[in-house]
Amino acid sequence: MTIRLDQALIEATIRLKGAGVEFARQDANLLMMDCLKADRDLLFREPERLLTDQEQSVFEELVERREKREPISHILGKREFWSREFIVNSHVLDPRPDTETLIELALTEMPDMEKPYRVLDLGTGSGCILLTLLAERPKATGVGVDISLDAMKVASANAENLNLENRTSFIEGPWFANVDGKFDLIVSNPPYIPDAVKGELQPEVREFEPHLALFGGEDGLDCYRHIISNAQSYLCGGGWLGFEVGIHQAQDVQKLMQIEGFRDISCANDLAGIARCVFGRI
Ligand SMILES: C[S@@+](CC[C@H](N)C(=O)[O-])C[C@H]1O[C@@H](n2cnc3c(N)ncnc32)[C@H](O)[C@@H]1O
Repeated sequence: MTIRLDQALIEATIRLKGAGVEFARQDANLLMMDCLKADRDLLFREPERLLTDQEQSVFEELVERREKREPISHILGKREFWSREFIVNSHVLDPRPDTETLIELALTEMPDMEKPYRVLDLGTGSGCILLTLLAERPKATGVGVDISLDAMKVASANAENLNLENRTSFIEGPWFANVDGKFDLIVSNPPYIPDAVKGELQPEVREFEPHLALFGGEDGLDCYRHIISNAQSYLCGGGWLGFEVGIHQAQDVQKLMQIEGFRDISCANDLAGIARCVFGRI
C-alpha cells in the first residue's frame, strides 16, 4: 500500500507519542529526513509525495527503533554540538546542550586566539568538549583521555572529520594514570549520576547510553574527588580546572576545590537556570 509523506509522519508521530517519546513530531521529521536523505524543506514542500516501498520499509525500521526508545542520535549516528556535527554511537555519551555551558565558560578562560593553549579533557567520550575548544582556538592543542577504547575511537573519528587530528591526541586509561605534562586548562564532564537514581532515568539513557559514562558512585561525586585531588600536578601556574556538574552538585564540588587550594572558584548556570559548571584555578 502506498502512503503519502505527510500521512506517514502523522502515523509515526502517534506511535512515538504512544511510546512516551517527548518530541515525537520532531523525531518523526528527523527520521523521515534521514530515510529520504532530504532536508527539512522537502517535508513541507512535498507533503503529498508518495513513499516508495523501499522508503516505507526503511522509515518503518527507523520508527520501530525510536519506539523502543533508542536515542535519536544513535539512530541517526550523529548529534550537533556547538554548531558542529559529531559522530555518536552506543559507546559514547550523547553530547548534551547543557555541556555547551562548559564550553562557554572554558572559552572565556582562553581569550587569546593566538595562544597555543594546552587542554586536557578527562573522560572525552565523543570528544565534543576537547574538539570544540580546539576548533574555536586555532593555536590550541589538546589531549583527550577515556577509559573506554571504543569511546576513543569515536573521538578520533570526530577529530579527523573536523580536521583537528594534528592538534589532538588521545590516551586510553583511567583519568591521569597515563597523562604526562602540564596544561593551561583541564576540563571534565565526568560520570556524575548517583548510583541510587538509576531506576529514575529515561529509557534512552538507562538502556542505551554506556553506564561507564553515567554513574559516579553513591553520591555521584567520586570522579570529582579523584580528579580534584590529583589535578594540581598537571596544571601550569594559574591554570584552570573546569567541570560540568550534575543537579545540586555545584556547592559540593566548589567545596572540594576550595579544600584542595583552588582559587577564583566560580559557577555558571545552564539555560534552565541550573548550576551546571564549576571552574577554579591554582
Ligand atoms: C559523562 S561522559 C562525558 C563524555 C563527553 N566528554 C561529553 O561531555 O559528552 C564521561 C566519560 O568519562 C569516561 N570515563 C568513565 N570513567 C573513567 C575513568 N576512570 N577514566 C577516564 N575516563 C572515564 C566514560 O567512558 C565517558 O566517556
